[in-house]
Amino acid sequence: MLTVALPKGRIGDDSLRLFEKIFNKEFRFGDRKLILEVDDFKFLRVRSQDVPTYVYHKAADIGVVGLDVLEEHRLDLVRVLDLGFGKCSVSIGIKSDKEIDFSKPSLKVATKMENITRDFFSKRAIPVEIIKLYGSIELAPLVGLADMIVDIVETGETMRQNGLKPALKIMDSSAYLIANKNSFYEKKGEILDLRQKIKEVLHGS
Ligand code: PRP
Repeated sequence: MLTVALPKGRIGDDSLRLFEKIFNKEFRFGDRKLILEVDDFKFLRVRSQDVPTYVYHKAADIGVVGLDVLEEHRLDLVRVLDLGFGKCSVSIGIKSDKEIDFSKPSLKVATKMENITRDFFSKRAIPVEIIKLYGSIELAPLVGLADMIVDIVETGETMRQNGLKPALKIMDSSAYLIANKNSFYEKKGEILDLRQKIKEVLHGS
């Protein structure tokens, strides 16, 4: 039996489609259901940012989550496989008519990814004030709350529609299959078997 934490949204849906292809049966959560049991799997539907927490505390053996979330959380987890979907980047966004000016004495950066942001700027010795937000990050430069943002860019449409442009890419991201360290040790056979099946469906190899 493997317990699998899946994020609500696209990555979770794509993961279930992957399981459907592998096992040739339906894997669907009921309307508001948060647990789905099919054969030897128990799926948990959680917020994307909570996937590493469920897996780290072994409430789930494995999970699927974006690399951006893993890099932000920094929990000690096994990265089993890059699934290749859910591709996006973590980028600096700025007003379309502006250029980044790192020499400005007090740069304000709005983001929900504080760790990634702090690391990026401190590695370059650029002093910044990080303003933590929980969503609608693109709004911050428009109302003078921040000079720039660090946020997820997938199609770039949200930035574009709000008069921003991605000015610098910090990292690429895609969905990863992750495992709890103890689970990976105790259920290695099951997890590696699943990894192999996923690889076959994804790459035909
Ligand atoms: C992300 C991100 C952007 C948007 C980018 O939000 O914060 O707002 O997607 O996508 P685009 O480049 O295709 O327009 P998400 O939908 O993950 O929601 P959240 O930030 O509210 O969690």
